[in-house]
Amino acid sequence: MQEQTTNDHKTLEFTPEVEHLTQPFYDRIKHVMPDVEWPIHAPVIAAINELKKTRNAIIMAHNYQTPEIFYGVGDITGDSLALAQRGAKIDAEVIVMCGVKFMAETAKILSPEKTVLLPDLSAGCSLAESITGADVRKLGEQYPGVPVVTYVNAYADVRAEADICCTSGNAVKIVESLNTDRVIFVPDGYLGRYVAQQTDVEVILWEGACEVHERFTADELRGYRNNFPGIHIVAHPECPPDVLSEADFVGSTAGMIDHIGTERPKQVVMVTECSMSDHVAIKYPDVDFIRPCNLCPHMKYITLPKILLALQTLEPQIEVDEDTAERARRSLERMLAV
Ligand code: 13P
Ligand code: SF4
Repeated sequence: MQEQTTNDHKTLEFTPEVEHLTQPFYDRIKHVMPDVEWPIHAPVIAAINELKKTRNAIIMAHNYQTPEIFYGVGDITGDSLALAQRGAKIDAEVIVMCGVKFMAETAKILSPEKTVLLPDLSAGCSLAESITGADVRKLGEQYPGVPVVTYVNAYADVRAEADICCTSGNAVKIVESLNTDRVIFVPDGYLGRYVAQQTDVEVILWEGACEVHERFTADELRGYRNNFPGIHIVAHPECPPDVLSEADFVGSTAGMIDHIGTERPKQVVMVTECSMSDHVAIKYPDVDFIRPCNLCPHMKYITLPKILLALQTLEPQIEVDEDTAERARRSLERMLAV
């Protein structure tokens, strides 16, 4: 029998009861997880699922979380847009965000009365860190009267200065909803370029980039086509333009999943964070996935033991000051209303 200890020194054991309780989760993910790993995860999953009832907590898990988190403890799962939309309506006292800090801020801004926990505060984002509220104010002075659209991969101070938020799933629609000739688009330069290709609206860019998606190259994608004839390539719009032009489909994390569900290609490469392919392979076992592995180090700060500890201690909490939250809420709510 394997044993492990959480930071509060409770011993978690893989007992027959834990095995029985967690078997349905393992059955879902067993073809992407070796069976030797399950006795390590199962006791923590059982403890988290028990404690979240006591705490009246909901666990949100982004598509880039590992399968044991996504399928084992996630109550609300999906892309940034789905987490924001569903978080706004959720009935719970505590939200545990298994994602990164800007996602936890979204949850707090939309549900200020709830306790929002981010199990590791190091879970940042290279895009969110590329810009500040002061930068947005300067852009506003440089381009007076031009509305600012911010990708939600930005911190609350940036959203507070913006007119409206967007996600990768609705960016074109949001830009067009403003009925204007020009927009300032922050902070993702590649997503901004992708949006500019899909619309007649002029897009003024900020050159932030996602450290995970900017690593993919067009050569790498051509290599997949040569090595796996007939392969279907789907990519996230945070990738550089020459990478996107090699793809058969471009979409948000949820968009890519839906696309694969509809098209059911025989063989796919998902040009995005590694954990995504595991989730989609679990959902569509008939599809063969070639898996390039670019990990988001921020997403991977979140682990089962840290989620358990967060629920035990109700720390670390995400706070957004009232004035910033009020202004950031307006730009988020404008997005949710489109
Ligand atoms: P989605 O909005 O597509 O879920 O993407 C979030 C993200 O962080 C992508 O890198
Ligand atoms: Fe940020 Fe990129 Fe990680 Fe998404 S994948 S959280 S954009 S660093």
